[in-house]
Amino acid sequence: MSQVNSEVSSPVITVDGPSGSGKGTICKLLAAKLGWNLLDSGALYRLTALAAKHHGVAVDDEDALQVLAAHLDVQFVINEVEEELQVILEGELVTQELRLEETGELASIVATKPGVRTALLNRQREFAQLPGLIADGRDMGTVVFPQADLKVYLDASVEERANRRYKQLINKGLDASLEVILAELIKRDERDMQRAVAPLKPAEHALVLDSTSLTIDQVLELVLEAARHKGLR
Ligand code: C5P
Repeated sequence: MSQVNSEVSSPVITVDGPSGSGKGTICKLLAAKLGWNLLDSGALYRLTALAAKHHGVAVDDEDALQVLAAHLDVQFVINEVEEELQVILEGELVTQELRLEETGELASIVATKPGVRTALLNRQREFAQLPGLIADGRDMGTVVFPQADLKVYLDASVEERANRRYKQLINKGLDASLEVILAELIKRDERDMQRAVAPLKPAEHALVLDSTSLTIDQVLELVLEAARHKGLR
């Protein structure tokens, strides 16, 4: 069992769930609505995977991956013109590469390594700053912020998640196959839920929401209501 940083005193809301459940969107909206900080923990696993790729480190070389994860040289910069967050890894712009399906797939392999998870633990906990933190990931409520004030587990059927991803890609004018997306999601769910360390599962006492037939606004309202109930806003 890992140590919890005793200096963490800001309120934390964790949102865990499988790929495509809408966590990212909900977390951004929650952070904006409450004026709190946002941790996209998946981005740290994706950045570790990209650093490995750029340095030619094999995804099964746990020692080397751990060193990369512990020393990630990353900057997040707001592009004033497009008002978009740009990600710079070791001086290289990786905003687009970071979001590729292929990077998510590599990240989920790298994320099975206990050494990588340990190396990223404190970096994630440092995001817990006043006035509060919305933490988006797979093990936010179970491992990284077990003391969180509110824990949410956001789910949706795998078919609905594949459909959403498909529509997103088509709307961007990209080529996509629903079958391929579905098969990849099933594979990623299995890897995230079956791994030995910090597998994806609802935290104890988590508010479990199934967004399959809910709108983004409905999910947001349910989480805000739970936050109000806990005196968090
Ligand atoms: O959420 P996102 O798709 O960016 O995450 C990429 C991968 O990183 C996930 O499939 C998962 O394997 C891993 N991850 C994790 N723990 C987290 C966040 C992400 O293992 N807290």
